[in-house]
Order: sequence, then structure tokens, then C-alpha cells
Amino acid sequence: MISLRTMIRNGFDRAERLLDRAFGPDWNPLAQLGPIGWLLFWIVAISGIYLFIFFDTGVTQAFASIEWMTNDLWWHAGLARSLHRYASDLMVLVMFVHLLREWSMDRYRGKRWFSWVTGVAVIWFVYLSGITGYWLVWDRLAQYVAMVTTELLDTLGIFAEPIARNFLSPQTLSSRFFTLMVFLHIAIPLLLLLLMWIHIQRITEARTKPPRGLAAITLVALVAGSLALPAVSQGAADLASIPQAVGIDWFLLSLYPVIESVPPGAIWAGVLAFTLVLAGTPWLPRRREQAAAQVSLDFCNGCSRCIADCPYAAITLVPRSDGLPFTHEVAVNPARCVSCGICMGSCPSSTPFRRSGPLTTGIDLPERPLAEVRVEVVDASAALAGEPGRVLTLACAHGAAAKPAPGRVVLPCVAMAPPSLIDYIVSRNLADGVAVAGCAERDCFNRFGVAWTRARLDRTRDPYLRERVPRDRVLLVWAGPTEAARLRNELAAFAARLAVLPPYARARALDEDEITDATGESAR
Ligand code: HEM
Ligand code: SF4
Ligand code: SF4
Repeated sequence: MISLRTMIRNGFDRAERLLDRAFGPDWNPLAQLGPIGWLLFWIVAISGIYLFIFFDTGVTQAFASIEWMTNDLWWHAGLARSLHRYASDLMVLVMFVHLLREWSMDRYRGKRWFSWVTGVAVIWFVYLSGITGYWLVWDRLAQYVAMVTTELLDTLGIFAEPIARNFLSPQTLSSRFFTLMVFLHIAIPLLLLLLMWIHIQRITEARTKPPRGLAAITLVALVAGSLALPAVSQGAADLASIPQAVGIDWFLLSLYPVIESVPPGAIWAGVLAFTLVLAGTPWLPRRREQAAAQVSLDFCNGCSRCIADCPYAAITLVPRSDGLPFTHEVAVNPARCVSCGICMGSCPSSTPFRRSGPLTTGIDLPERPLAEVRVEVVDASAALAGEPGRVLTLACAHGAAAKPAPGRVVLPCVAMAPPSLIDYIVSRNLADGVAVAGCAERDCFNRFGVAWTRARLDRTRDPYLRERVPRDRVLLVWAGPTEAARLRNELAAFAARLAVLPPYARARALDEDEITDATGESAR
């Protein structure tokens, strides 16, 4: 039976394919939700700072100052108000779609738990920032929010005096209390920023800026929405009466009608249960983790290519410990390593050509070592014998070619395959051509697998694919889980092209491929 996760994952994949057509893979908004979230934060922050120039923080003047901005200064301060509100709303939407997408793509479990758990804290800080903001307008909606919130907080019994009392009558609301709300509306978003920064600390080069064009589209859409439907207040707050029938912002205040109709104890229990279950999701159910990458110092010269390529900041450079004439070596943090194998693909000593001694490399996956991958490749090539245009596929476990098939070797990430493996397959005549079938181009499961593979094959990032490998014998194809048909067609067309090529003659003797030294440079 197809699981809920697979259904949602496939739904995203289909929607993203449509968006790929409209925006292209680099600008696909669904693949850029994290960066768009950051952009929205900055729009909210900058528009908020601008609003503070005109905002009067006195409890009796606040509403009037916002009316002045909205009506008299509508073309700048009023616009900033609308941008502030709509960017906050959009941030909630983007956040939940991002959460659902990361969950459906299974990028939150095991060693990848950190961004998820910190993301849960981000959710509450986004809400708290929005709620304290609504309060400052001091209109009927603000009054409603203030009353419902303080009554709920009072049930915790943590304040010396019930804070809901502040809203009993115009005389009881002190400016000091209002100033506290202004302070909170600045402090909470600053804490949110800190949390958003922490959220991306366990990944390398996190994307916090969407591509410029996409950022421009987002901003233009928000400005257009703000001009078409400016944010307005709902009449001045009046503590002499209880606000009736206020219009709710369904993005930030959707819980308020629920808070009103459910006992406070149930609300707090619900909030706690939601937070704990969501934060515990990466371990529900617990799964067996693959062993972390391991360094073999005899084959490591401390070149730090693996550090540059690891998407999860799991490798560090440390002083040499074994007396070999290099200044540094690398160390893997097992708590961060997700066993994607990308480091193995980047190490210059990862060359399948070696014949003398066991096939050891500088950094390897203990449960899927390069030596084993080489055996799998040789076995897979045997299944192709006799076919016209033999295509050996190195496939990503998260894309359209994830299922085992004859002539296919499935890897945790295609960037785990060192370019020398392609050279090995072609020059040893194990196949007529190699198809590298990765996951969707717009957003690699292992973050950089698509980019690094492409750059290595284009010879713009170490380790390069040797020039001697004819490019017409290598196919790069990116296909998400719902693109099996396109993948099949591309592989068939590739096989047909290979079938009419003259047999591949090796450019040079293979003896030079032997590498036994720690530097591995001779493999290039
Ligand atoms: C508005 C709030 C949020 C922002 C701005 C944000 C931003 C980001 C960014 C920039 C990335 C890195 C993308 C990359 O370069 O690969 C990311 C990854 C991620 N986020 Fe968020 N995020 C937010 C909320 C959340 C929430 C609420 C959750 C879930 C509870 C979450 C879970 C994740 C996960 C699981 C990853 C992937 C980490 C990995 O690749 O291992 N995020 N987020
Ligand atoms: S396998 Fe290598 S590249 Fe992947 S997370 Fe572990 S150390 Fe980083
Ligand atoms: S030789 Fe290999 S394991 Fe050592 S630093 Fe370079 S890439 Fe990493």
C-alpha cells in the first residue's frame, strides 16, 4: 500500500514539475521555501523598522498613528504596513508548506533531526511575533487578541496579579503595559532570527537567499497585493465594551476562535502535545542508522575536498596525528554524518582502478565501501552482456531510478560515485555508456549531489572526470520520483545512440591508473 508520505511526496513532485516549466528548476518556488522564508523575514523586519518611524507607542496614540499612516501616508507608511502584514501571513504559509515538504521528502529523520527540531521552535516564535504585532494596532481586533491571550496566560498562574485585569477599563490599561508589548514585539522577532540562524547550523552553505528573480517576483506580488487590498484597522479599541465579531487573520490568529471555545487546560495540553509530538517526529519510529563515513589516514593527505563537498558540515580538518608528512587530516563527526557518501566521491584517492592491495580510499562508507560498489558495478555490467548499446546506470536512491534493476547500481547519492568510476566503466568496457540518474534537479535529496556531480563532469570542480572519457558516452539525467517514464525514454534514447557508436578504444594504457600513494594525485 502506498504510504501517506509517498502520496504527499509524489504530489509535491508533480506540482514542482509544473512549476519547473513556468519558473525553471533554479527558480522553482516550492524548492526555495526555506530561502523565501528568510526573504519574508527581512521584508517584515525592514517594513517594521520603517513603521516605527511613524508609530506612536503611547496606548492612547497608537491607533491614531496607525490610522494616519494608513490613510494619509498610504503610499509609503501605509504600504509598509500592508507589506508587514502580508509578508508575515505568507511566512506562516511558507513555513507550513516547507515543513510538509521536508517531512514528505524524509529530510528530517535520523542525523538530520536538528533542523526539524529547531524548526518546531521557529513555528511558535513566528506566531508569537505575529500576535504581539496585532496587539500594537490597538483596534478592536487588538483588544480581542489582548483579552483572549491574557485570560489564557492567567490560567497558568505564573503572574503575581492576573494580567487580564489591565483590560477591564480604559483606566486600568497602563502605558507601561503597552510599552512592554512594544518591547516584546521587537525582542521576539530578534529571538526568531536567532532561531532561524540556529535552524541552519548543521548544514553547509544553507540557502538563505532565493535567486534574485524569484525574490523580485515575491516582492512585486506582495506590493501588488498591498496596493490592491491595503491592510486596515477594525475601529479603535474601547475597553468599555467587549469586541464583537472581529475579522480574524486566519494565518496568524487562527487559534483564537478555538481558544475561546475550548477550556484553557485543554488548550495548554494541546499546545504541549503538538509541540512534543512534532519535535519527536524524527524518532517516530526509530530507524537504524547507517555507520558514519570513516577516514583511512594512509590514503588521506588532508586536501580537505571532502570538507568542501559534505552537505552536512560533518567533516573537520584537524592536525595530523600519524606522523605522515602532511600538516592536516580530516575527522568525521558521526553525530552529523548521514552516510550520503558524497565525501567518498570527492576524495582523490577514491579510484576503482587500483589493483594492488585492497581497494581502500581516504574516506569511505563502512557499510557501502568503494570496493563493494566496484564489485556491484562489475556484476551489473554482466547483466548487460549482449545488449545493443549497453547502459550502466549509477542511480540515486531518491529519484526515479531508486528501485534496483538489471544494469543499475543504486547509491545513496549519485555524487557518491567518484568520476573515476565512470572512467573505469567506460575504459574497462564494462558498458558502452554510463547514465548518472540523479534525483530532481531543482532540489537534491542530499542538497549538493546534483551540483557537485554536474561540476565534476563539467571539469569545473575537483575531482574532474578525465578528458579521455568521451562525453557522448556519459548521460546525466535528473528525474524525481514521478518521472519514471521520462527516465525510461531518456535511457532508451541513450542506448540507441550508443548502439551506433564505434567501439570505444582506450586512449592510454591503464598502468598509469594505479595509485598507491597517499596523495592520490596520480589518478587525475
Ligand atoms: C519560516 C520559518 C523557516 C525558515 C525561514 C526556514 C528556513 C530553512 C532553510 C533556509 C533551510 C535550508 C535549505 C537548504 O539550503 O537546503 C531549511 C531546511 C530545513 N528546514 Fe526550515 N525553515 C523554517 C521553518 C521550518 C520548520 C517549521 C520546520 C519543521 C518543523 C523546518 C524544517 C526544516 C528541515 C527538516 C530542513 C532540511 C534540513 C536538511 O537538509 O537536513 N523548517 N529551512
Ligand atoms: S557521508 Fe561524507 S559527505 Fe555524507 S554526511 Fe557523511 S561525512 Fe558528510
Ligand atoms: S584525501 Fe580524501 S579524506 Fe583526505 S582530506 Fe582529501 S578528500 Fe578528505
